[in-house]
Amino acid sequence: MNPIVFAMQGNEHMAARICELRGWELGSWEMRRFPDGESFVRYLSEIKGRDVAIVCSLDRPDEKAIALYLAANVARELGARQVGLVIPYLAYMRQDIRFHPGEGITAKYFARLLSGACDWLVTVDPHLHRIHSLDEVYQVPTRIVHAAPHLAEWIGVQVAHPLLVGPDAESEQWVSEVAGVIGCPFTVLQKTRYGDSEVTVTVPGIDRWRDRTPVLVDDIASTARTMMAAVARLREAGMVAPVCVAVHALFSGTAYADLLASGITEVVSTNTVTHPSNRINLAAPIAAAADMLFRDRSGKVVP
Ligand code: R5P
Repeated sequence: MNPIVFAMQGNEHMAARICELRGWELGSWEMRRFPDGESFVRYLSEIKGRDVAIVCSLDRPDEKAIALYLAANVARELGARQVGLVIPYLAYMRQDIRFHPGEGITAKYFARLLSGACDWLVTVDPHLHRIHSLDEVYQVPTRIVHAAPHLAEWIGVQVAHPLLVGPDAESEQWVSEVAGVIGCPFTVLQKTRYGDSEVTVTVPGIDRWRDRTPVLVDDIASTARTMMAAVARLREAGMVAPVCVAVHALFSGTAYADLLASGITEVVSTNTVTHPSNRINLAAPIAAAADMLFRDRSGKVVP
Protein backbone atom coordinates (compact mmCIF):
# COMPACT_ATOMS: atom_id res chain seq x y z
CA MET A 1 0.00 0.00 0.00
CA ASN A 2 1.17 3.53 -0.76
CA PRO A 3 2.54 5.74 2.01
CA ILE A 4 0.18 8.16 3.72
CA VAL A 5 1.27 11.72 4.51
CA PHE A 6 0.00 14.04 7.25
CA ALA A 7 0.58 17.79 7.33
CA MET A 8 1.09 19.75 10.50
CA GLN A 9 -0.52 23.19 10.33
CA GLY A 10 1.26 25.45 7.81
CA ASN A 11 2.73 22.47 5.93
CA GLU A 12 -0.35 21.59 3.89
CA HIS A 13 1.05 22.84 0.60
CA MET A 14 4.33 20.94 0.93
CA ALA A 15 2.50 17.74 1.97
CA ALA A 16 0.05 18.03 -0.93
CA ARG A 17 2.88 18.57 -3.45
CA ILE A 18 4.76 15.54 -2.10
CA CYS A 19 1.61 13.39 -2.46
CA GLU A 20 0.94 14.66 -6.00
CA LEU A 21 4.52 14.01 -7.07
CA ARG A 22 4.64 10.47 -5.67
CA GLY A 23 1.00 9.39 -5.92
CA TRP A 24 0.85 9.02 -2.12
CA GLU A 25 -2.28 9.46 -0.02
CA LEU A 26 -2.85 12.69 1.89
CA GLY A 27 -4.03 11.66 5.34
CA SER A 28 -6.74 13.23 7.43
CA TRP A 29 -6.43 13.95 11.14
CA GLU A 30 -7.70 16.29 13.78
CA MET A 31 -4.88 18.33 15.24
CA ARG A 32 -5.71 21.10 17.68
CA ARG A 33 -4.99 22.52 21.09
CA PHE A 34 -6.96 22.02 24.28
CA PRO A 35 -8.01 25.26 25.99
CA ASP A 36 -5.04 24.93 28.35
CA GLY A 37 -2.60 24.88 25.41
CA GLU A 38 -1.84 21.14 25.36
CA SER A 39 -1.82 19.48 21.93
CA PHE A 40 -4.47 17.01 20.75
CA VAL A 41 -4.15 14.66 17.80
CA ARG A 42 -6.60 12.11 16.41
CA TYR A 43 -5.91 10.21 13.20
CA LEU A 44 -9.06 10.03 11.08
CA SER A 45 -7.42 8.02 8.27
CA GLU A 46 -6.59 4.37 9.03
CA ILE A 47 -2.81 4.01 9.55
CA LYS A 48 -2.44 0.50 10.95
CA GLY A 49 0.23 -1.26 8.91
CA ARG A 50 0.81 1.85 6.78
CA ASP A 51 4.00 3.75 6.01
CA VAL A 52 3.39 7.19 7.52
CA ALA A 53 5.17 10.50 6.97
CA ILE A 54 4.44 13.63 8.97
CA VAL A 55 5.45 16.95 7.38
CA CYS A 56 6.40 19.69 9.81
CA SER A 57 8.89 22.47 9.24
CA LEU A 58 10.35 23.54 12.56
CA ASP A 59 10.56 27.29 12.34
CA ARG A 60 9.26 28.58 15.71
CA PRO A 61 10.06 25.08 17.01
CA ASP A 62 8.90 25.47 20.58
CA GLU A 63 5.32 25.98 19.32
CA LYS A 64 5.41 22.81 17.22
CA ALA A 65 7.86 20.22 18.48
CA ILE A 66 5.72 18.68 21.22
CA ALA A 67 2.71 18.30 18.90
CA LEU A 68 4.99 16.65 16.33
CA TYR A 69 6.48 14.35 18.96
CA LEU A 70 3.00 13.34 20.14
CA ALA A 71 1.69 12.82 16.60
CA ALA A 72 4.59 10.52 15.73
CA ASN A 73 4.16 8.50 18.92
CA VAL A 74 0.41 8.13 18.38
CA ALA A 75 1.05 6.86 14.84
CA ARG A 76 3.41 4.22 16.18
CA GLU A 77 1.00 3.16 18.87
CA LEU A 78 -1.80 2.85 16.31
CA GLY A 79 0.31 0.34 14.41
CA ALA A 80 1.94 2.35 11.61
CA ARG A 81 4.56 0.15 9.92
CA GLN A 82 7.04 3.03 9.93
CA VAL A 83 6.83 6.70 10.84
CA GLY A 84 9.06 9.17 9.01
CA LEU A 85 9.42 12.86 9.75
CA VAL A 86 9.75 15.31 6.87
CA ILE A 87 11.18 18.44 8.49
CA PRO A 88 12.16 20.88 5.73
CA TYR A 89 13.71 23.27 8.29
CA LEU A 90 15.35 21.45 11.19
CA ALA A 91 15.61 23.64 14.29
CA TYR A 92 18.09 23.64 17.15
CA MET A 93 21.13 22.98 15.02
CA ARG A 94 22.93 26.25 15.80
CA GLN A 95 23.52 25.67 19.52
CA ASP A 96 26.05 22.98 18.60
CA ILE A 97 28.66 23.87 21.20
CA ARG A 98 28.80 25.27 24.72
CA PHE A 99 29.55 28.87 23.72
CA HIS A 100 29.61 30.08 27.34
CA PRO A 101 29.83 28.38 30.74
CA GLY A 102 26.42 27.31 32.00
CA GLU A 103 24.97 26.62 28.53
CA GLY A 104 24.01 23.28 27.03
CA ILE A 105 24.42 21.76 23.58
CA THR A 106 20.71 21.87 22.84
CA ALA A 107 21.18 20.40 19.35
CA LYS A 108 21.88 17.06 21.06
CA TYR A 109 18.84 17.04 23.33
CA PHE A 110 16.50 18.07 20.53
CA ALA A 111 17.91 15.32 18.31
CA ARG A 112 17.34 12.80 21.08
CA LEU A 113 13.71 13.91 21.43
CA LEU A 114 12.92 13.53 17.71
CA SER A 115 14.94 10.35 17.30
CA GLY A 116 12.84 8.74 20.02
CA ALA A 117 9.64 9.35 18.06
CA CYS A 118 10.37 8.28 14.48
CA ASP A 119 12.03 5.73 12.19
CA TRP A 120 13.73 8.24 9.90
CA LEU A 121 14.00 11.90 9.12
CA VAL A 122 14.37 14.01 5.97
CA THR A 123 15.49 17.61 6.07
CA VAL A 124 17.02 20.32 3.89
CA ASP A 125 20.50 21.71 4.57
CA PRO A 126 20.59 21.50 8.35
CA HIS A 127 23.01 23.95 9.95
CA LEU A 128 26.00 21.62 10.13
CA HIS A 129 28.92 23.57 11.51
CA ARG A 130 30.63 22.11 14.55
CA ILE A 131 28.39 19.05 14.23
CA HIS A 132 29.59 17.63 10.92
CA SER A 133 26.91 15.05 10.25
CA LEU A 134 23.37 14.51 11.53
CA ASP A 135 24.50 10.99 12.47
CA GLU A 136 26.55 12.55 15.28
CA VAL A 137 23.36 13.56 17.09
CA TYR A 138 20.40 11.74 15.48
CA GLN A 139 19.96 8.08 16.28
CA VAL A 140 17.72 7.30 13.27
CA PRO A 141 18.54 7.20 9.54
CA THR A 142 18.46 10.66 7.97
CA ARG A 143 18.62 12.08 4.47
CA ILE A 144 19.61 15.63 3.63
CA VAL A 145 18.30 17.46 0.60
CA HIS A 146 20.88 19.93 -0.69
CA ALA A 147 19.40 23.19 -1.86
CA ALA A 148 22.56 24.27 -3.73
CA PRO A 149 21.66 22.89 -7.21
CA HIS A 150 18.21 24.47 -6.95
CA LEU A 151 19.59 27.83 -5.81
CA ALA A 152 22.05 27.64 -8.71
CA GLU A 153 19.24 26.98 -11.18
CA TRP A 154 17.30 30.04 -9.99
CA ILE A 155 20.31 32.36 -9.85
CA GLY A 156 21.64 31.13 -13.20
CA VAL A 157 18.37 32.03 -14.91
CA GLN A 158 17.42 35.19 -12.98
CA VAL A 159 20.69 37.04 -12.33
CA ALA A 160 22.96 38.18 -15.14
CA HIS A 161 26.70 38.19 -14.42
CA PRO A 162 26.51 37.24 -10.72
CA LEU A 163 29.19 37.28 -8.04
CA LEU A 164 28.20 34.89 -5.26
CA VAL A 165 28.89 36.18 -1.78
CA GLY A 166 28.86 34.15 1.43
CA PRO A 167 28.52 36.29 4.55
CA ASP A 168 30.72 34.08 6.75
CA ALA A 169 33.11 31.16 6.71
CA GLU A 170 30.29 28.65 7.32
CA SER A 171 28.52 29.73 4.15
CA GLU A 172 31.47 28.78 1.95
CA GLN A 173 30.11 25.24 1.61
CA TRP A 174 26.92 26.46 -0.14
CA VAL A 175 28.38 29.42 -1.95
CA SER A 176 31.25 27.49 -3.52
CA GLU A 177 28.92 24.71 -4.67
CA VAL A 178 26.35 27.10 -6.15
CA ALA A 179 29.08 29.15 -7.88
CA GLY A 180 30.58 25.94 -9.26
CA VAL A 181 27.28 24.91 -10.85
CA ILE A 182 26.67 28.37 -12.33
CA GLY A 183 30.31 28.83 -13.36
CA CYS A 184 30.73 32.24 -11.71
CA PRO A 185 33.16 33.61 -9.11
CA PHE A 186 32.47 33.68 -5.38
CA THR A 187 33.88 35.34 -2.31
CA VAL A 188 33.35 34.80 1.39
CA LEU A 189 33.15 37.64 3.92
CA GLN A 190 34.31 37.57 7.51
CA LYS A 191 31.60 37.80 10.14
CA THR A 192 31.74 38.41 13.87
CA ARG A 193 28.55 38.03 15.89
CA TYR A 194 28.41 39.82 19.24
CA GLY A 195 24.82 39.00 20.13
CA ASP A 196 21.49 37.89 18.63
CA SER A 197 21.19 41.09 16.59
CA GLU A 198 24.74 42.45 16.60
CA VAL A 199 26.82 41.40 13.64
CA THR A 200 29.82 42.94 11.90
CA VAL A 201 31.09 41.86 8.52
CA THR A 202 34.27 42.72 6.65
CA VAL A 203 34.61 42.53 2.88
CA PRO A 204 37.89 41.43 1.31
CA GLY A 205 38.98 43.34 -1.83
CA ILE A 206 36.31 42.85 -4.48
CA ASP A 207 37.30 45.65 -6.86
CA ARG A 208 37.86 43.25 -9.74
CA TRP A 209 34.19 42.18 -9.56
CA ARG A 210 32.70 45.70 -9.57
CA ASP A 211 30.87 44.91 -12.85
CA ARG A 212 29.00 41.95 -11.34
CA THR A 213 25.73 41.70 -9.38
CA PRO A 214 26.43 40.42 -5.85
CA VAL A 215 24.18 37.54 -4.77
CA LEU A 216 24.32 36.93 -1.02
CA VAL A 217 23.68 33.29 -0.22
CA ASP A 218 23.13 32.00 3.33
CA ASP A 219 21.46 28.99 4.84
CA ILE A 220 19.34 30.87 7.38
CA ALA A 221 17.93 34.38 7.51
CA SER A 222 16.63 34.95 11.03
CA THR A 223 17.21 38.49 12.32
CA ALA A 224 18.66 39.18 8.81
CA ARG A 225 21.42 41.16 10.57
CA THR A 226 24.06 39.02 8.84
CA MET A 227 22.65 39.81 5.40
CA MET A 228 22.08 43.49 6.22
CA ALA A 229 25.64 43.95 7.48
CA ALA A 230 26.95 42.30 4.31
CA VAL A 231 24.70 44.47 2.12
CA ALA A 232 25.99 47.63 3.82
CA ARG A 233 29.64 46.68 3.31
CA LEU A 234 29.07 45.67 -0.33
CA ARG A 235 27.35 48.98 -1.07
CA GLU A 236 30.20 50.87 0.66
CA ALA A 237 32.60 48.94 -1.57
CA GLY A 238 30.77 50.38 -4.60
CA MET A 239 28.86 47.24 -5.66
CA VAL A 240 25.37 47.45 -7.18
CA ALA A 241 22.36 46.48 -5.05
CA PRO A 242 22.64 42.79 -4.12
CA VAL A 243 20.13 39.96 -4.45
CA CYS A 244 19.68 38.01 -1.17
CA VAL A 245 19.08 34.25 -1.29
CA ALA A 246 18.33 32.21 1.83
CA VAL A 247 17.58 28.53 2.08
CA HIS A 248 15.47 28.88 5.23
CA ALA A 249 13.40 32.09 5.50
CA LEU A 250 12.88 32.33 9.26
CA PHE A 251 12.71 36.15 9.34
CA SER A 252 11.87 37.01 12.93
CA GLY A 253 10.04 40.23 13.86
CA THR A 254 10.64 43.03 11.34
CA ALA A 255 13.68 41.31 9.79
CA TYR A 256 12.14 40.82 6.34
CA ALA A 257 10.92 44.42 6.04
CA ASP A 258 14.27 45.68 7.36
CA LEU A 259 16.18 43.64 4.79
CA LEU A 260 13.91 44.77 1.93
CA ALA A 261 14.63 48.38 2.96
CA SER A 262 18.39 47.90 3.24
CA GLY A 263 19.35 48.61 -0.39
CA ILE A 264 18.83 45.25 -2.05
CA THR A 265 16.92 44.34 -5.20
CA GLU A 266 15.18 41.16 -4.09
CA VAL A 267 14.95 38.52 -1.34
CA VAL A 268 14.52 34.95 -2.51
CA SER A 269 14.13 31.76 -0.48
CA THR A 270 13.22 28.12 -0.83
CA ASN A 271 9.87 26.87 0.45
CA THR A 272 11.29 24.99 3.47
CA VAL A 273 9.54 27.67 5.55
CA THR A 274 6.40 29.21 4.04
CA HIS A 275 7.18 32.90 3.42
CA PRO A 276 6.40 35.62 0.83
CA SER A 277 10.01 35.38 -0.44
CA ASN A 278 9.60 31.71 -1.49
CA ARG A 279 10.61 31.29 -5.14
CA ILE A 280 12.46 27.96 -5.14
CA ASN A 281 10.32 24.86 -4.72
CA LEU A 282 12.05 21.88 -3.08
CA ALA A 283 9.04 19.56 -2.89
CA ALA A 284 10.42 17.22 -5.57
CA PRO A 285 13.83 16.49 -3.98
CA ILE A 286 12.20 16.27 -0.53
CA ALA A 287 9.66 13.74 -1.84
CA ALA A 288 12.44 11.74 -3.49
CA ALA A 289 14.43 11.61 -0.24
CA ALA A 290 11.36 10.46 1.73
CA ASP A 291 10.70 7.79 -0.90
CA MET A 292 14.25 6.44 -0.52
CA LEU A 293 13.86 6.18 3.25
CA PHE A 294 10.46 4.48 3.00
CA ARG A 295 11.95 1.94 0.61
CA ASP A 296 15.14 1.39 2.65
CA ARG A 297 13.07 0.68 5.69
CA SER A 298 10.54 -1.58 3.99
CA GLY A 299 13.33 -3.65 2.52
CA LYS A 300 12.58 -2.76 -1.11
CA VAL A 301 15.48 -2.17 -3.44
CA VAL A 302 16.28 1.52 -3.88
CA PRO A 303 16.89 2.27 -7.57
C1 R5P B 1 25.06 31.39 10.93
O1 R5P B 1 25.73 30.61 11.49
C2 R5P B 1 24.13 31.12 9.80
O2 R5P B 1 24.76 30.53 8.71
C3 R5P B 1 23.47 32.41 9.37
O3 R5P B 1 24.43 33.29 8.87
C4 R5P B 1 22.77 33.03 10.54
O4 R5P B 1 21.99 32.10 11.20
C5 R5P B 1 21.93 34.21 10.11
O5 R5P B 1 21.30 34.73 11.23
P1 R5P B 1 20.72 36.20 11.25
O6 R5P B 1 19.77 36.33 10.11
O7 R5P B 1 20.05 36.30 12.58
O8 R5P B 1 21.87 37.16 11.14
